[in-house]
Amino acid sequence: MDAQAQKKAAAVAALEFIGEGMKVGLGTGSTADLFIDALGEKVKQGLNVLCVPTSIASEKRARALGIALSTLDETPQLDVTVDGADEILDPSLVLIKGGGGALTREKIVAASSEKVVVIADQSKLKTEATFGAFPLPVEILPFGAAATILKMRRAIGKLGMGGDLVVRQHGGAPFVTDNGGLIVDCHLGHISEPEKLAGKLGRIPGVVEQGLFVGIASVALVAGAGDVMVLERPAD
Ligand code: 5RP
Repeated sequence: MDAQAQKKAAAVAALEFIGEGMKVGLGTGSTADLFIDALGEKVKQGLNVLCVPTSIASEKRARALGIALSTLDETPQLDVTVDGADEILDPSLVLIKGGGGALTREKIVAASSEKVVVIADQSKLKTEATFGAFPLPVEILPFGAAATILKMRRAIGKLGMGGDLVVRQHGGAPFVTDNGGLIVDCHLGHISEPEKLAGKLGRIPGVVEQGLFVGIASVALVAGAGDVMVLERPAD
């Protein structure tokens, strides 16, 4: 199975977690898209679910497939959210998310869900030795961006880390999130203490949300060349 087929296998496996009448959070990204497509098929076959999307892109995709949609304001408690990830740390299931720039809504929706199912191909699965190669996305307010980035750099330095902090670009201009924010990609190379880093970045004024998801994922479905592995987050 190539990476695309692995993503699809993980996405289809996530349907096991969806039952009749459930309230479902829909993630963002190419793997989450495959789950939305698979869910759309089930809806066509008669499954009733009410879904809350984590981005405008996922909302459009789900709407086109005839999936019933809601918002967190109307439906503040969800049964399950299914989403992708940029990296998954084994075995704690700490995630790096935000490659698609939707990390803030993704985290709010995930934190409003009884269960969070992460779907991925095996390239996303990392160990303590390899976690953090993907640049950590952080959403910040445009107001005072340079000052916020300076504080982020200092906070990262205090943890003995460093690397380039780059404002994400799109079509020659800063990428703007669905919330009107900017994304700073932190090229750290390796993250050894994700919880500490999450705490420090999250406390900086101007940071809307940082892309480390600690204690949020319940289960990861990771597809390899053969089967889909089911990894459960150990009890806290
Ligand atoms: C979007 C995300 C995505 O889940 C993450 O970037 C993985 O995307 P893909 O499935 O396309 O590899 O966090 O903000």
